[in-house]
Formats: sequence, C-alpha cells, structure tokens
Amino acid sequence: MSENASAAVTKSGWSEAWERALGRVSETSAMALDGFPHYGDPETGKWTTTPDAFWTGGFWIGELWLAAHATGDETFQEQAAIWLKRLEPRIESRTVFRGFLFYYGAVTGAILHNDSTAGRFAARAAQSLAEQFDETAGLIPLGSQAEEAHSVGDGEANIDGLPATPLMLWAAQHLKDDDMRELALRHARRSGEFFIRPDGGVIQSASFDNRTGEVTRRYTHKGYSDSSIWTRAQAWAMLGYALSAGIEPGEPWLLERATQVADWWLDHVPADHVAYWDFDAPVTPETKRDSSGTAIAAAALLKLAAIHPDRAKAEGYRTAARAATAALVERHLRPNGILGDGCFDPKNNKAVANELIWGDYFLLECLAKLSGRLAMEF
Ligand code: GLY
Repeated sequence: MSENASAAVTKSGWSEAWERALGRVSETSAMALDGFPHYGDPETGKWTTTPDAFWTGGFWIGELWLAAHATGDETFQEQAAIWLKRLEPRIESRTVFRGFLFYYGAVTGAILHNDSTAGRFAARAAQSLAEQFDETAGLIPLGSQAEEAHSVGDGEANIDGLPATPLMLWAAQHLKDDDMRELALRHARRSGEFFIRPDGGVIQSASFDNRTGEVTRRYTHKGYSDSSIWTRAQAWAMLGYALSAGIEPGEPWLLERATQVADWWLDHVPADHVAYWDFDAPVTPETKRDSSGTAIAAAALLKLAAIHPDRAKAEGYRTAARAATAALVERHLRPNGILGDGCFDPKNNKAVANELIWGDYFLLECLAKLSGRLAMEF
C-alpha cells in the first residue's frame, strides 16, 4: 500500500482492524493456556507456550492490559492480573530481557490501570536489573539466564537489552531513585556506543573485555551475518530510544539516538513498508519477512511522532507509521486476527513464518492509537 493509500485509511478502517486483532486476544484468553503464548501456527491458531514466560510472556499480559483499557471489559483486567502473578518468579532472574517482561507485563498495567501489584513488580525487577549493571562495561550485560547466554560467555551484550532502560527510568521516577535513573541512562548511552554504527544501522550483539570494558567484537545471534542489520536489532533500538526519550525529555541525546535509528530504518525499509527478516539477507521470492519487526518499528515511529518537537519531522514519522501499520493489516493480518509472517529464529529454523506474541502486541498498540482508543503515551 502506498503512503497515500494508507493516509486514506479512515478511523473506521483502523477500528475494523482493531476488532480483528482484539478478537484474537479474546480467542487466546478463552483457550485457558497452561503457559504463556510465545508463537502461534498461523493456519491452526495453536500456540506454542512457555512455562516461565521466556522473554516474551510480558507481551501477552500487555495485550490484556491494553484490551482492558480500550474496551473497559474487566475480564481482560482480571486475566492480566492472573497472568502477572505468574511472572513473579521472574523478578530476580538474571537476564537483561526482564526489560521486555516487566515493561510490557507490569509498567503497562501500572500506567493504564494504576495496578499496584504491577507497579510493585516493575519496581522490584528494575531494582534487580540495577544490580546486574556491569561497572566495567558501563551497561547491563545479557546475564546468565538470558535466552542467548548459553552460547556465549559473561562479557556479552545485546541491543535487545535496551528496553531495560525505559523500565528502570519508569521505576526511578516512581521510586524517586536518582541512582537507578543514572544507571538506566548509562545503559542506553553505552548501548549506543556498542551497537549503533555511525550511519545509524544497528548490530545485534557485542562482546566486551571483562577487564577494560572495551568492545572486542560485534556479531549477531539471530541475524544473517555478524555485520548485517538484523531487522529486530534496528526495531528494538528504535523502540528503546523512543520510549526512553518520552520518559526523559530533558536528555536530548535520547531523542537524537531515536531519530538516528528511525531514519536509518526509513531509508532502508522496502518500498512496500514491511521489512524482510534481515536488511542484508539476499532477497529472493523465498526470503522471509518479519511482520513483528515491522510492528515494533511502527509502534516506535508513532511514539517518535508524539514526542518530536519538530512538527514536520513528527508528521513524517506519523505518516510512515500509518503506512507500515496499513501494510501489516492489508497483507499480514488474517481475518481471524492472527498477524502472520513473523520470523522468530531463522538460524535455528524456529517459527520463521508464524504469529509471534510481540508482533501481535505492537500491532494492537498501533491500532489502539490509530483508531482513537489509546491516547496515552507509555
Ligand atoms: N531477543 C529478542 C528478539 O529475538 O527479538
């Protein structure tokens, strides 16, 4: 869909798509799953679940908080509270990916519903993340229980760890904890140095020297090659900096980073607005898209549009976000509300053309905003 065509999507068009995506949330909720939904079979709708939420379960809770906010249906809120309780054992788990779990699983509930358990869990996870901060490296490394830590050593970090910053910034404001705020900002600053190339492209991972903290190599866990731009590396950077810039408007470098990585995305994304799984993967008719990476990017662009002081730039980000969301709805959102064509882990041939819970979450967030159901920034 062209940008002009997406501009023509009316509020009722966005509402129709929202209803479809919401229908999938209701359907998933009615399944009474015994674990957190992780990835779904787009043909059967069957979820592969995780018992402990992995790094992905917070997005399911986030969907429930968002659905409750937008519809006023208390069943969603009750469900969110039940699933949140199941996240409690993860508060102390040694992984930087608690940023994902507790920003979307808990901060969202604290902001949208003033839920005190959600606020408490988010604060405790943020305090525990602060303890994981590595003074030598100047950031929070992966941690021994992170998804990818099994294949690497101690001195490793990922850009997908950046969402720890908005979680800690939110908690620092909530707890009036300046030390936590400082660590959160240092994590974001150093992540920029570790992963962002001078041209704004983002490399997923880096190793550092445990004695000096210097970067010794850059590489990837899930991308095409060690020097390629894996789609979700770029998208997580866009989101992490945009969220952080929204929480800390007095730190203009956060907004500069957010625009740098967003501009790179917009300069490189295919003309039809949906990214392949890696920007450097050779494109053939078989090359997989990653709808989830595009959904994350669209959500980040909407956030940037809301906070950027230059109204012309803000409008450009908004137009791009609408175009990306419209393309996802038109070509990848199925009639039953399943967002297909997410590419989780192609190197291990795992869920390469599937529904992914975080893709669902970010599309739902975009549709909530574009259809006028969500006015708040978080
Ligand atoms: N580890 C985050 C991702 O796979 O996107």
